Amino acid sequence: MWALSLSPHEVEAVQALTHEIASEYKSVEDPQLIRRATIYAHELPRRVRQFLTEFKLLEPSDGVCLISGYPIDNDRIGKTPAHWKWKLDAETSLEEQIMFLLFGCLLGDPFAWATQQDGYLMHDVLPIKDNQYDQLGSGSEQTLFWHTEDAFHPHRADYLGLMCMRNPEGVATTLGAPDISRLSQEHLDVLFEPRYLIKPDESHSEKNESDQHKEARQNNGNGELNSAYEHIRKLNTAPPPVPMLFGPRQTPYLRLDPYFTTPLDDEAGAALNALAQSVDENIQEVALQPGDCIFIDNYRIVHGRKAFTARYDGTDRWLKRLNLTRDLRKLQSARTGSEMRVIV
Ligand SMILES: [Fe+2]
Repeated sequence: MWALSLSPHEVEAVQALTHEIASEYKSVEDPQLIRRATIYAHELPRRVRQFLTEFKLLEPSDGVCLISGYPIDNDRIGKTPAHWKWKLDAETSLEEQIMFLLFGCLLGDPFAWATQQDGYLMHDVLPIKDNQYDQLGSGSEQTLFWHTEDAFHPHRADYLGLMCMRNPEGVATTLGAPDISRLSQEHLDVLFEPRYLIKPDESHSEKNESDQHKEARQNNGNGELNSAYEHIRKLNTAPPPVPMLFGPRQTPYLRLDPYFTTPLDDEAGAALNALAQSVDENIQEVALQPGDCIFIDNYRIVHGRKAFTARYDGTDRWLKRLNLTRDLRKLQSARTGSEMRVIV
């Protein structure tokens, strides 16, 4: 994994910058802040800018980078919320969120899904009691099987950012990629063909939107939002056939979420099993520490999470999450909302 540890001097520089920005904005969801974030990111320490820019340009095969060394004030950020919908820490962790946003803006543009976490750009990943046994980031008792983020959708993120707020139990994030050289040519041929159906995961389901979001959608008849959920329902009942691999044959990009994937025939199933076995043999476990920011190349690396027992007492594992695209313009036909960054 590419890694950069901030020096004390760099931490001071980052804090001075985020402190100044936090005095002007109340939330990272503020459209003015989002519009200017890339410009602010130009003021991050040069070593950080160089590190993230090279990670983007060189596309290393290990596909994950880590920036560590930022001290999180465990008391100031407050308790791990019981749900993402309240944004109780919008101000108490604002400086940390701004840092994470600026790092992300060196890799791409943040975007949101109208159907996921009420369309917020910055997500919270934390255990929710009602999702305890679900195959969701907000679940806990089930292993979250490895996947590329939003594999079902053509506009999925190029990079997935995760910032650790707390993780006292050391719950592991899983990361991995297949060893393509160990796959047969026949299996590779099949994996490059559109012989698989990938359904949306449940984070895009209407049952996981907040009551306020649902009420607002129903009351104002927001056509775009309703059609976004309609689109998810269609992808659930009739997902289009897609390949598991694409791009260069020797170093292919991945589009993988086996838990939600149905192969169209036995040959496709056997090829996917071989691919999945190769990933399983290469899975690494990383227990993120407070202040760690990782950026996962969502075209090269799968991620998941080990099962754990949540306490729901304000001390559980808590991450922030950002979806980043290298080109907002490729989302043009599908976006709306805050600065045209919300996929509907
Ligand atoms: Fe994920």
